[in-house]
Amino acid sequence: MLLIREEAIERMRRDHDGMIDLIRRIESVCGQRSVVENCSGCVSDRREFCHSNVDQLVRAFVEATLKHNMMESLYMEDGVPEAHRRAHNRAHMVIAEQLKGIRVVLSADGNCVQAIEGIDNVLHALIAHFVDYDQQLERYLLEPAS
Ligand SMILES: [Fe+2]
Ligand SMILES: [Fe+2]
Repeated sequence: MLLIREEAIERMRRDHDGMIDLIRRIESVCGQRSVVENCSGCVSDRREFCHSNVDQLVRAFVEATLKHNMMESLYMEDGVPEAHRRAHNRAHMVIAEQLKGIRVVLSADGNCVQAIEGIDNVLHALIAHFVDYDQQLERYLLEPAS
């Protein structure tokens, strides 16, 4: 049982690394963020290339993050105090809302600059989440509450 729990922690950490990696890739697509506030201020051939890249990477990131959070919710079904579970799931919902907002921005006017800004906010939210919730979950996984 402990081995399975250790594997769960490994999996969580691997996912976290993958999520951060995707964010880095999204952020590196646009080199004009300090210059323009909207993709409409960018040259048009560059714009198209950017948009399909950002769109694809954001899609992958949103999917990976939602799937990851769902996996953690499953891990919480056993040996995790109810209070933590509830707060942790609520925190996942806040992140899901942020992600939804980014998808809306991308599909509405395709402004990647704004979408990447949203991704940057998610990055900060995720880093805080790892410390505030996921580290605690890891401790519960190693030492389940009876
Ligand atoms: Fe996590
Ligand atoms: Fe989490």
